[in-house]
Amino acid sequence: MPDTGITDILVSEDQIKEIVKRLGAEVTEHYRNTERELVVIGLLRGSFVFMADLVREIKLPMVMDFMTVSSYGDGTVSSGDVKIIMDLDTSIEGRDVLLVEDIVDTGNTFSKVIRMLQNRNPNSLKICTFLNKPECRTADVEIDFCGMDIPNEFVVGYGLDYAQLYRNLPYIGIKGQ
Ligand code: IMP
Ligand code: MG
Repeated sequence: MPDTGITDILVSEDQIKEIVKRLGAEVTEHYRNTERELVVIGLLRGSFVFMADLVREIKLPMVMDFMTVSSYGDGTVSSGDVKIIMDLDTSIEGRDVLLVEDIVDTGNTFSKVIRMLQNRNPNSLKICTFLNKPECRTADVEIDFCGMDIPNEFVVGYGLDYAQLYRNLPYIGIKGQ
């Protein structure tokens, strides 16, 4: 087998399943009495694996859309710049929106995306992230549904990449230097 550069498994496939089930149940409970269908928005590319699993654990009517914003380029350090590469097709005005992210690190990307989406006047906007690195936070982001807090390590797999690689790993691994 080629050297993957993964030094440790941080979240196993079984743990991922448990976490996603719990999050799906929390989201379902939260929106149980909402009149109109939920709008679930994934930030590409990182969130696509998690979102595919999550939506199947949310037992509510929903529509889905995706958005691409730039953040890191291909490195491991945040540039601090966020711009929309691909916008939503769906109008979120007056809708209940759940924004899905793979990981919140500095919070820089997310806080800017949240501000952009708030300007479109949704009825509500909630945040769901699979992983959270609280030690790295520099921007203010309130997370409503959080899979797991992790230490300040660079992780890959389950949608997360290093230079676009590793997204297909079925677990979360720590990428050594
Ligand atoms: P933030 O703006 O610093 O919160 O960065 C958010 C984005 O950076 C995430 O959506 C990921 O795409 C990427 N990112 C942050 N930490 C990691 C990591 O440990 N592995 C892979 N990507 C990461
Ligand atoms: Mg991302």
